[in-house]
Amino acid sequence: MRLILILPIAYLLSTLMPTPTVEGQPAGLPTLKETFKSDFIIGAELGNTELTGEDPSPRELTASQFNSISPGNLLKWGPFNPRPGEFNHGPADAYVEFGTSHHMYVVGHVLFWHNQTPDWVFEDESGKQVSRDQLLDRMRERVRHVAQRYGNRINAWDVVNESIMDNGKLRDSPWTRIIGDDYIEQAFRIANEELPPDVELIYNDYSMTGRLKREAVVKMIQDLKQKGLRIDGVGMQGHWALGGPSIESIEESILAYSAAGVEVHITELDIDVLPRKAGMWGADIRKKLEQDPAMDPYQAGLPEAVQKQLAQRYADIFTCFLKHHDKIKRVTFWGVSDRYSWLNNWPIKGRTNHPLLLDRQGQPKPAFYAVIDASKRYHLQNTAQDPDSQ
Ligand code: GLA
Repeated sequence: MRLILILPIAYLLSTLMPTPTVEGQPAGLPTLKETFKSDFIIGAELGNTELTGEDPSPRELTASQFNSISPGNLLKWGPFNPRPGEFNHGPADAYVEFGTSHHMYVVGHVLFWHNQTPDWVFEDESGKQVSRDQLLDRMRERVRHVAQRYGNRINAWDVVNESIMDNGKLRDSPWTRIIGDDYIEQAFRIANEELPPDVELIYNDYSMTGRLKREAVVKMIQDLKQKGLRIDGVGMQGHWALGGPSIESIEESILAYSAAGVEVHITELDIDVLPRKAGMWGADIRKKLEQDPAMDPYQAGLPEAVQKQLAQRYADIFTCFLKHHDKIKRVTFWGVSDRYSWLNNWPIKGRTNHPLLLDRQGQPKPAFYAVIDASKRYHLQNTAQDPDSQ
């Protein structure tokens, strides 16, 4: 009871503390990391461009607003280790250094995925497909390499990305064709054995609010646990839209994953405000569409009515996250500001999208204030309902 009372007080006090300022931002702007510090970790994806580019704003905004980072591409197998024995350590080292020097929760993304994995991983020197054992050895070498180089300076790894289809079936890929149906189990076995015990192990996927996928992921978690393998979290990629998924399905999924005995990470949150054609939901990055001006209506800025819709959508989503903050470890936005969002280039290249809380100039949008207000409302209500507080 005492803790229940202390948390809202700590929260209220924290909102009075001065916040680091970023040039050009409103004075006294609240920060997301202070706002949600008693609820969950709050992160942003930081790619190589944001880390090393001339524009300092993504680094400054990340340091001032967030207490966790996720890498864009720089730790994926292809960008990190494009050819046998050849490693691009530079961007990954800079990423880990940025996170640790700012005392952040640093995410590793991703050990094994069907995309952005070079062909050589699956072939021997003569181009012939490797055997199951050879591929398992290569997987182990990769995990051992990142474990030796980064250890627990990377706090959590997405071990497997997107290996269960929306219909609940295992995705057909070189991983399953060479290793077999126990590919996810083998990936977690290797991660269990090679990574330090305090590094959290996560299964990450899109469309995690769909019933069939949810049931399959819950079963996978149970199977891994039954085999004595550790899985600490599931990552629900939040590549969502103004109209869906429903808050009910988000809530139901958070409850289902939590009941299966893992922490929930909302890993890739953004709300697409641009039109989409049927069948373009989720985040299958191989799907691409042709350019079409009618599909890019907000080049001059987001109209006020849509700004409001976006703010309301974020408020509803965060109200749900706050209600289940005890089950949610982390909420990560896929990008720091609209300027750096991948949704400017997917599923159609070169559009102007507005999916995040900070606009193209890094300024807070109505959606930013909407999530801050959702938190104030939630904490004030909680204080009022606490019998000890009367
Ligand atoms: C998926 C991956 C991410 C990223 C996005 C698109 O969700 O998990 O790493 O590639 O697609 O930006």
